[in-house]
Amino acid sequence: MTPQRTIAIYGSADELYRAAAALVATQLAAAINERGRALVALSGGSLTTRLYPLLANPPLREQIDWSAVSVLFADERYVPFDDAENTYRATRQTLLDHVPVQAEHVFPVPTYYRDPEQAAAIYHQQTAALLAAHGGKFDVVLLGMGPDGHTASLFPRHPALTGPADRLAVVVRDAPKPPPLRISLTPAALSAARTVLFVVSGADKAAAVAAALAETGDPLDQPTRLIQPEQGNIHWLCQRMNE
Ligand code: 6PG
Repeated sequence: MTPQRTIAIYGSADELYRAAAALVATQLAAAINERGRALVALSGGSLTTRLYPLLANPPLREQIDWSAVSVLFADERYVPFDDAENTYRATRQTLLDHVPVQAEHVFPVPTYYRDPEQAAAIYHQQTAALLAAHGGKFDVVLLGMGPDGHTASLFPRHPALTGPADRLAVVVRDAPKPPPLRISLTPAALSAARTVLFVVSGADKAAAVAAALAETGDPLDQPTRLIQPEQGNIHWLCQRMNE
């Protein structure tokens, strides 16, 4: 069944991130109300500095029973937890250390393994177990998009896009966006979602957004199109990019 898709355009980045944060809070609160718990996949980039602080502060902070939330990461840069580029570090600083989420419900990508393949295999298992415990789906997958159309660490025409269909987490080498070595959830994992949010700001992304929404051309050039949550919803929230 084709996912329901909505597109919302906001006049400023502030309006965009406020709307996106409110939607995340609403979706998580609804999941907890319905099933007693919620599973979210978080991305890095500007979401960590622009959206997560809104969730970490009133009024949204109190709208969510954080003790019922489990957190995975849609992707991670393969650097130590104390590296300024580490998404888990940034997310702790702007969200996780400021809300009563239970530490045992937060699952950072284990970037301390020397072999990233081992880390990806472990994250695959953790993702599979968490999805199984949450009815087979994330309640919210929160994603950004780069000017080249990448999302999470799924880059256009990268081999990571077309790995084994049953893999939930993969190693991404030579990523065009530094750092070059990453771990990413796969399109299959990110499609196991009740709600997918793409939150996109920046005029440099206008062409990539237009191409992704037009759904023309090769999906391997537009990784967001590989994320198709069956019986789920896709919400595009974008900042107006033309004057
Ligand atoms: C990362 C993110 C990545 C990000 C996009 C958009 O590791 O950087 O997971 O997918 O969401 O590159 O980043 P900006 O919002 O900062 O442009």
